[in-house]
Amino acid sequence: MEIKEQLHQSIQEINTAFKTIVTINELNDLKAKYLGKKGVFSQWMLEMKNLPVEEKPQFGQAINIAKAEIMSLFEDFYSQIEQREINEQLAKEVVDISLPGRKFPVGAKHLVSQVIEEVEDLFIGMGYTIKEGPEIEQDLYNFEMLNLPKSHPARDMQDSFYITEELLLRTHTSPVQIRTLLENGGNKPIKIICPGKVYRRDDDDQTHSHQFTQIEALVVDHESTLADLKGTLLLLAKKMFGEDRQIRLRPSYFPFTEPSVEVDISCYKCNGKGCSMCKGSGWIEILGGGMVNNAILEATGYDSKHYQGFAFGVGVERLAILRYGIDDIRAFYINDLRFNQQFK
Ligand code: DAH
Repeated sequence: MEIKEQLHQSIQEINTAFKTIVTINELNDLKAKYLGKKGVFSQWMLEMKNLPVEEKPQFGQAINIAKAEIMSLFEDFYSQIEQREINEQLAKEVVDISLPGRKFPVGAKHLVSQVIEEVEDLFIGMGYTIKEGPEIEQDLYNFEMLNLPKSHPARDMQDSFYITEELLLRTHTSPVQIRTLLENGGNKPIKIICPGKVYRRDDDDQTHSHQFTQIEALVVDHESTLADLKGTLLLLAKKMFGEDRQIRLRPSYFPFTEPSVEVDISCYKCNGKGCSMCKGSGWIEILGGGMVNNAILEATGYDSKHYQGFAFGVGVERLAILRYGIDDIRAFYINDLRFNQQFK
């Protein structure tokens, strides 16, 4: 057979062999058979030696052309197999994105946190900053500097958790007032609210908890008045209990404010007409406050001739209890999910 025919035949053989080949290994074997060291082409090259000189160039050229053709056949086929293997791998790894995801149970913020954040939002909007203080507090800040001398009944061992003579769990957030006044060195205006936990030596029952939450507010500048306090509290009342709310101030007594007031909101159930909620009075007590006592300003370095201000303290659980009609303060702390999830 003439050499060209032989080459042609080889190409056809290869093309037929390709049809049965599945893996790269099989392809490699086939390639070795034709293009390898002992392959068909190497044999032809050896044969070239036996040819007459004038036939050698033609023969060589024919082999080179055929070899190039065969190599490109192999290359095409390599990339076909490679592509097929990639496709098979991709098909194996396919992710069905139409499957619905697994749902994780989503928690909810505790009602106490929700109310704190709501009040914070309102006051941040009015230019207040948030301040925190320690829950283990010095007697000096919790009582003494708030004008509660050693003999004051609120300091009775029954009301406070003392750790040492001088340290106790704070009974209210008011000591943060003292800390802030002292920090500001007597010559800077102050506008803060302070949320936090407080502790009292009470037996837990429907209306008492040995630990609860307060938000304290303190404003000190040159001209804040009782009218500003009233306006501020009216905004708080409307935000928490609805736009129709009114407030009223009644005279009261706190050692750290002078004058002191007890603040009521108009009953949101009967709108002031009188019902079981407000015990017929049309008003519900929500918090205490007043004008910062001059004695406190002076003791913390503020000149009370040039500085004045107001303060108030409000119970967070009390706000929530009133707003949602919760009948037992212990519900806030026993972590019954049925309670917590009502306020998602
Ligand atoms: N500390 C008081 C309490 O726990 C609440 C309070 C009353 C805070 C009047 C104040 C205030 O800042 O001015 O009962």
